[in-house]
Amino acid sequence: MRSLLAAGLMCVCVMAVAATKTSAQGGGQAAPLQNLQVLPKDMARPDVIALMRTFTLALGVQCTHCHVGTPQERFKDDLPAKAMARKMLKMMTAINADYMGVKAGEPNKATCYSCHRGALKPLTAPTAAAGGF
Ligand code: HEC
Ligand code: HEC
Repeated sequence: MRSLLAAGLMCVCVMAVAATKTSAQGGGQAAPLQNLQVLPKDMARPDVIALMRTFTLALGVQCTHCHVGTPQERFKDDLPAKAMARKMLKMMTAINADYMGVKAGEPNKATCYSCHRGALKPLTAPTAAAGGF
């Protein structure tokens, strides 16, 4: 009985590991990205995800602020925030290239965080605490 239970547990564990692997692959390298309109179409998934993490930190939101559904459905365009983020990406690229002299391949000088500072609505003036009024 004991050894049967142990064997059963082992089996569940192995299945869990297998399931983790599959889902890691499902969200991982294999599938090409389907709906990049502003970013380079051949941008690798890990690079896109790394950029997306900078969005969540810069704006103080979760992935789901801009994306509906499962991690496999990030290509969908259901939320207005995603459309706004595309405009913001274009604006940010223009600020860096046209006004800051940043060349292709160089790190950006102006980023989402430069304005947003962890908030969805950037401040337009110093807070009272910072001497504003
Ligand atoms: C502020 C909005 C925003 C947030 C937050 C955000 N994304 Fe995105 N995401 C976008 C936009 C905009 C695009 C499309 C970019 C383009 O068109 O070039 C995109 C595209 C993607 C894609 C490519 C999908 C495809 O197949 O075309 C993936 C994957 C993705 N995001 C994952 C994530 C993950 C994971 C998170 C959380 C860590 C996240 N995103 C957070 C705005 C966001
Ligand atoms: C030059 C400053 C600036 C930069 C850089 C910038 N933003 Fe914004 N962003 C704003 C302002 C201003 C608003 C409008 C907020 C409001 O409506 O009060 C805004 C609004 C947004 C919104 C809509 C907010 C909401 O309620 O959903 C999203 C999403 C967004 N920005 C994403 C980004 C992303 C992603 C980046 C980097 C690619 C970025 N922004 C870079 C200034 C900036």
